[in-house]
Amino acid sequence: MATSSDLPTGPTDQFTPSPLNQLLYGHIHSAAVRAVAEHHIADRLADGPRTAEQLAADSGLHAPSLRRVLRLLAMHGLFTQDEKDTFGLTDAGQALRTDVPGSQHAVALLFTDEMFRRAAVGIPDAVRTGTTPFEAAYQVPFFDHLAVSPGERELFDTGMASMSGRTDDLIVGSYPFPAEGTVVDVGGGRGGLLHAVLRRERALHGVLFDRPDTVSDHVLDTEEVRGRWSVRGGDFFSSVPSGGDLYLLKRILHDWSDEECVRILGAVREAATPGTRLLVIDSVLPDNGDPHPAVELDIVMMMLVTGRERTAREFEDLFSRSGFRLNRVLPTPSLPSILEAEAV
Ligand SMILES: C[S@@+](CC[C@H](N)C(=O)[O-])C[C@H]1O[C@@H](n2cnc3c(N)ncnc32)[C@H](O)[C@@H]1O
Repeated sequence: MATSSDLPTGPTDQFTPSPLNQLLYGHIHSAAVRAVAEHHIADRLADGPRTAEQLAADSGLHAPSLRRVLRLLAMHGLFTQDEKDTFGLTDAGQALRTDVPGSQHAVALLFTDEMFRRAAVGIPDAVRTGTTPFEAAYQVPFFDHLAVSPGERELFDTGMASMSGRTDDLIVGSYPFPAEGTVVDVGGGRGGLLHAVLRRERALHGVLFDRPDTVSDHVLDTEEVRGRWSVRGGDFFSSVPSGGDLYLLKRILHDWSDEECVRILGAVREAATPGTRLLVIDSVLPDNGDPHPAVELDIVMMMLVTGRERTAREFEDLFSRSGFRLNRVLPTPSLPSILEAEAV
């Protein structure tokens, strides 16, 4: 298959592989991924390759259509396909299984869900007016919608936990977490990162803080961290738990506008004392416009919420507006970096 660097850059017709034509097929690719995720095709291939007919017979699907979808995704590296039309999983395709560590099955269902698709349709309007497409489509901000839609909240929280599952250990390995004291994870979801931190530092205590419906499904109740955590539900625009020696904000600030970030950081600053450290764990965009994987995530933010991905300088500006000083930016082997700041 041609890679983007092999593709012609000049004028082409509709059928010649080109960057433009690949982009125009984007919605087809994500719908095809949705089809195999919805029908658990990767789980059905866990024991080895099978034909579309065998897969379809198992699960009551339409074999010729399934074969065509699998052929497309084989061309894009999720499946193998041999001359007998037998399909297997590539390393990349294994991530669509539900039973593997770091499974991306829940992420695939979230990113291809109707909420994301309806919001994406509004991108041209956003470019014209600056409005948030999700709000225009649903008449309510994204997180307010989740608060009253238990099914979609479950989908979102599971997708977030699944994204975190791949990165939490990489983050924990990239920072010298304190050996004791209390770490507060603000907007910590179901607590995957906090659990990974407490597993590593056996005398450290932790507080998980998020919306009440989210923390009620936390994952902290395990033997390894027993007796060293508590959970609080609340609104980080009002207040966050005080008494932390270290505060975490992972993939929070990118959800919010600068003004909203200053309010969240302000609530953390209220809870902290001078010298208290804060780790903001988010993607950091290069400020010279170089390509970066978070540029795509930035468009997801644009279509769903008021936030965006930021450069280190933009984060530094948010810190200085809310009583923090940026100490350093540490890369991780994953997409997010760790911005270490200190309350002044
Ligand atoms: C993008 S998720 C990140 C979750 C987690 N930190 C992670 O990295 O997986 C944003 C989190 O912010 C939480 N959140 C949104 N609005 C909130 C609010 N007003 N107060 C507290 N938490 C909130 C959501 O429930 C969600 O868990």
